[in-house]
Amino acid sequence: MSKTIRFALIGCGLMGREFASAAARWCHLAKDIPRPEIVGACDINPEARAWFERHFSTIKYSTDNYRELIDKPDIDAVYCAVPHNLHARFYVDIINAGKHLLGEKPFGIDKAANDLIIEAVRARPEVIVRCSSEFPFFPACQELIKWIKEGRFGRIIEVRSAFRHSSDLDINKPINWKRQIEYNGEYGCMGDLGLHTQHVPFRAGWLPLNVYANLSKIVTERPDGRGGVAPCLTWDNATLICEARDTGGGLFPLIFETKRMSPGSTNEWELTVLGMGASAKFSTNDPNAFWFTENCGREQAWCRVNIGYKPMIPAITGGIFEFGFPDAILQMIAAFVCEVSGIKIPFGCVRPEETALSHRLLSAALLSYKEKRAVAIEY
Ligand SMILES: NC(=O)c1ccc[n+]([C@@H]2O[C@H](COP(=O)([O-])OP(=O)(O)OC[C@H]3O[C@@H](n4cnc5c(N)ncnc54)[C@H](O)[C@@H]3O)[C@@H](O)[C@H]2O)c1
Repeated sequence: MSKTIRFALIGCGLMGREFASAAARWCHLAKDIPRPEIVGACDINPEARAWFERHFSTIKYSTDNYRELIDKPDIDAVYCAVPHNLHARFYVDIINAGKHLLGEKPFGIDKAANDLIIEAVRARPEVIVRCSSEFPFFPACQELIKWIKEGRFGRIIEVRSAFRHSSDLDINKPINWKRQIEYNGEYGCMGDLGLHTQHVPFRAGWLPLNVYANLSKIVTERPDGRGGVAPCLTWDNATLICEARDTGGGLFPLIFETKRMSPGSTNEWELTVLGMGASAKFSTNDPNAFWFTENCGREQAWCRVNIGYKPMIPAITGGIFEFGFPDAILQMIAAFVCEVSGIKIPFGCVRPEETALSHRLLSAALLSYKEKRAVAIEY
């Protein structure tokens, strides 16, 4: 297959560059799947677009108005990475224009915005829409996902899924849109980091039946970058204690942690599944390791297997080498391209209905914290 998928990038910031860099490394994949070609770039900041114009000779369209891109017949798909307040309007317009969409989390600034996106998805079933979440594509996490599918954990005792950062501990770090409610949303750290923690549990069918939320706002103002200070009103840390059912019907605690103030954590994504048959864990702090223990009596020993470079979509790198963040982004984009092209893969990107689950959970979490009670989530 030597087809190309012609992409436009809307939002040429941190994540737009990651997408483009991964797309430029397609020869890394050892599977014949359509190649993304970056033909359009949109950002209101011309300097952000300049990087793309410099590095991608394939760019035909460069604009500050996304509407100019989405009606082009020679664009097949869009990767959209813009501030959260723009998600609903941009995503709905992209879907209505019939372009496949890989959007960014939280897929709408709040539940009302997500409802609009879901409505657009339902109206255009031929358009493939997915949300970004790259960490499950680490090979060691793929191994954990395989164990979930094979039912090796048995009755689930507890699942913990966490995403922790620490750079906000620097109180001199200037404010940016991710710490301002009008751009980032009421969810704060939960909107920024939540879907990353929910992708695997939701795909496993572990749906939160209720939630008790503990939210913290620790630093309430930050330098505004112009010599003054600006209010910083988003939630810094959140711990959501939920109850879920495993496939056998057993109830278990499902704990989601999303923290911006976690001393020592640098983009630390972690998933731990404890079960009666076996337990396993993965953390980006030790990215090649798959940790597991099998229950065979009173004592258990944790074993560490170095999984190495054995990703879901085969690549040219030898299996003994190490896998990292840009590799996970490449795998995620390749998974999206496979889904757009009808190529079957064992694990795909976040589906729109999973983003809707996320918004139900996060809205319930806000209510839980406000009323200091557990809130039921109906299905
Ligand atoms: N998957 C991940 O690991 C990950 C990591 C960081 C951020 N994100 C998500 O990606 C999205 C973007 O985050 P980012 O870190 O790239 O932010 P960023 O601030 O680096 O980039 C956003 C870009 O959008 C542009 N923009 C703003 N308004 C625009 C408009 N009207 N039209 C076109 N462009 C506009 C900005 O100029 C900026 O260049 C967010 O949804 C965020 O939650 C995902």
